Amino acid sequence: MEELHKTYGKMAALAGVTLEIADGEFVAMMGPSGSGKSTLLHCAAGLDTPSSGRVFLGGVEVTALDEPGLAALRRERIGFVFQAYNLLQALDVADNITLPLRLAGRPVDEAKLMAIAARVGLGSRLGHRPAELSGGQQQRVALARALITDPEVVFADEPTGALDTRTAREVLTLLRELVDEAGQTLVMVTHDPVAASYAHRVVFLADGHLAGEALRPTPEQVAERMTQLGAS
Ligand SMILES: Nc1ncnc2c1ncn2[C@@H]1O[C@H](COP(=O)(O)OP(=O)(O)O)[C@@H](O)[C@H]1O
Ligand SMILES: [Mg+2]
Repeated sequence: MEELHKTYGKMAALAGVTLEIADGEFVAMMGPSGSGKSTLLHCAAGLDTPSSGRVFLGGVEVTALDEPGLAALRRERIGFVFQAYNLLQALDVADNITLPLRLAGRPVDEAKLMAIAARVGLGSRLGHRPAELSGGQQQRVALARALITDPEVVFADEPTGALDTRTAREVLTLLRELVDEAGQTLVMVTHDPVAASYAHRVVFLADGHLAGEALRPTPEQVAERMTQLGAS
């Protein structure tokens, strides 16, 4: 990401952010509410376009793509996980997980579905509807859905924000395993210092600017930095 600006009227949600994320890296983005975390994540993921600046994914300039190009990029090279799971209630777990493949007109590989479901601990739940699952299980379905297309990057916006502490830890452990064992590149917005401590690196945002970073952070270090940035 090079010199990203995003303005809404006179308000600068992003005020010149330059950030490089390496292949296989797990980066957490933190900052006070309104500091631009979601805007940055959405611009990085091709869900939103910056007012100026450039975004690259691998060799592709994301900011040079037209809307069909962006749609294809999101479908084929990027995975998303949101706080609210965003599962389709009428579909069972298997059909929710494989939805991105069917939307892309790609064949559903049953062996791959089984492997990913097992990876996220849902091997015995494929026939269940989302309403029959706990919050943690629903977020695992959303994660499996994000992984089914082998994305180069998974972007997650507050993926544990709706989960209780223990379930959040389980999902975070799973995310970290995907990074450590499968080399998944992962970018996660969070306001939880403990969640951020699962990342290799935490980048801090304040008022649309980068405000430092921490490598291999402890929850205490992250919490202290957040206090300095004026977050409650
Ligand atoms: N669609 C929008 N229209 C106007 N202002 C927006 C819009 N989206 C975000 N903002 C503003 O941009 C700033 C950054 O928002 P956001 O990226 O959502 O922050 P965060 O995720 O860190 O809480 C906030 O002041 C927010 O009100
Ligand atoms: Mg946000």
